[in-house]
Amino acid sequence: MTSPLRLGIAGLGTVGVGTVRIVQRHADLLAERAGRPVTISAVGARSRDKDRGVRLGDYAWEDDPVALARRDDVDVFVELIGGEEGPAKAAAEAAIEAGKHVVTANKALLAMHGQALAEAAEAKGVSIRYEAAVAGGIPVIKSLLEGLAGNEITRVMGVMNGTCNYILTRMQSEGLGYQAVFRECEELGYLEADPTLDVGGIDAGHKLAILTAIAFGTKVDFGALTIEGIEKITFEDIEQAADMGYRIKLLGVAQQSGRGLEARMTPCLVPASSPLGQLEGPTNMVVLEGDSVGQIVLRGAGAGEGPTASAVMGDVCDLARGAMLPVFGKPADKLASPAVSTTDTPAAYYLRMALLDKPGALARIASVIGEAGISIDRMRQYGHSTETAPVLIVTHKAGRDALEAAIGAMPGTGVLASEPVALRIEDV
Ligand SMILES: NC(=O)c1ccc[n+]([C@@H]2O[C@H](COP(=O)([O-])OP(=O)(O)OC[C@H]3O[C@@H](n4cnc5c(N)ncnc54)[C@H](OP(=O)(O)O)[C@@H]3O)[C@@H](O)[C@H]2O)c1
Repeated sequence: MTSPLRLGIAGLGTVGVGTVRIVQRHADLLAERAGRPVTISAVGARSRDKDRGVRLGDYAWEDDPVALARRDDVDVFVELIGGEEGPAKAAAEAAIEAGKHVVTANKALLAMHGQALAEAAEAKGVSIRYEAAVAGGIPVIKSLLEGLAGNEITRVMGVMNGTCNYILTRMQSEGLGYQAVFRECEELGYLEADPTLDVGGIDAGHKLAILTAIAFGTKVDFGALTIEGIEKITFEDIEQAADMGYRIKLLGVAQQSGRGLEARMTPCLVPASSPLGQLEGPTNMVVLEGDSVGQIVLRGAGAGEGPTASAVMGDVCDLARGAMLPVFGKPADKLASPAVSTTDTPAAYYLRMALLDKPGALARIASVIGEAGISIDRMRQYGHSTETAPVLIVTHKAGRDALEAAIGAMPGTGVLASEPVALRIEDV
């Protein structure tokens, strides 16, 4: 048998330990599939003394991830530390500089520095693989880079933060407010140390930035995304959306239109009967659309030890077989800067607001919407006990500019009792 592929694994938390476990448990299977053994030469983390519930005594230990990345007995540097700067970035750069392939689960690193890392890797003739960085165990990167390589990709959509989907579906199933479910998630340890990464849409935005680059052949540009979190979604929004046949999801959408690239990670309404609408709990779903293939839907665990380590090992096996792919599907110097669209593809919108309980209040709001050139599909006024009345409006398709003009004119009607909330209804 040919020489083993030797790994150096930096970071022994959830994903790192999962990766070590697969290498140990499936040594024979991996050797057969990859055509050569896959071994671990060295590992490292912050604390050497921590009991990680996995056998590490056979491997060299490195406190410093940069030193680990440069070791002569490491062919592939597996970066499982996390974070867009600091040791993860320094060690990935050091590995590339030393001519090693890099496998990483770090979406933040790739979303912020993907282009520079891809250029450096190409210059050194090494690969960067990152299946685990987007939607955990779902092989979405492989699908885009390989399976759909013959397609022009027309749209990419996805629910890619399990915590947000858990919060939204639990609010709905238990009739709870956002804050109550958020506190539950804190107690259960479901949130990142900085929870705005989850509920603010940033973590999911990092993933969408990566998918957008591959799908549309552009440089990864996190700044080109519109990002909005789920913090303002109320139980009433969820209930009323359900009443109209929709579910609310933190949905990433990237598409290329005549206007340019549109990429946003925002709360949206999707039909309750659609695959995205039916997605419950922490599960992830990615929908890919290509000119030849049509629409495909990928669904599975977006996080956790097993699913994420499974994705890491898929990349490792590919490298063991000698597969070399351009990092984002094209040589880095062929990736264009994204031409970001200044307007969104027209969509129907859900508008929620409270109006003062005055005669003609609803008519005044309807006329402001009409004056902005938007027609109304459905309108509901909900029962109320105070001097304000909750109102829900679903528009026909409208441009974002027209919608903003309508919202901007609403305070002038003198009947508005709360700031309007507008959510896009995505065609899925
Ligand atoms: N967890 C998931 O389900 C999941 C899913 C998809 C992607 N990811 C990505 O996978 C990566 C790892 O996530 P994780 O959940 O496994 O994180 P984690 O459990 O927090 O583990 C991080 C590991 O990095 C080590 N580390 C931190 N700073 C270090 C330093 N300066 N030098 C050396 N080691 C250092 C830690 O050491 P100690 O253990 O000694 O503290 C720990 O072992 C991140 O990029 C994350 O975004 C995670």
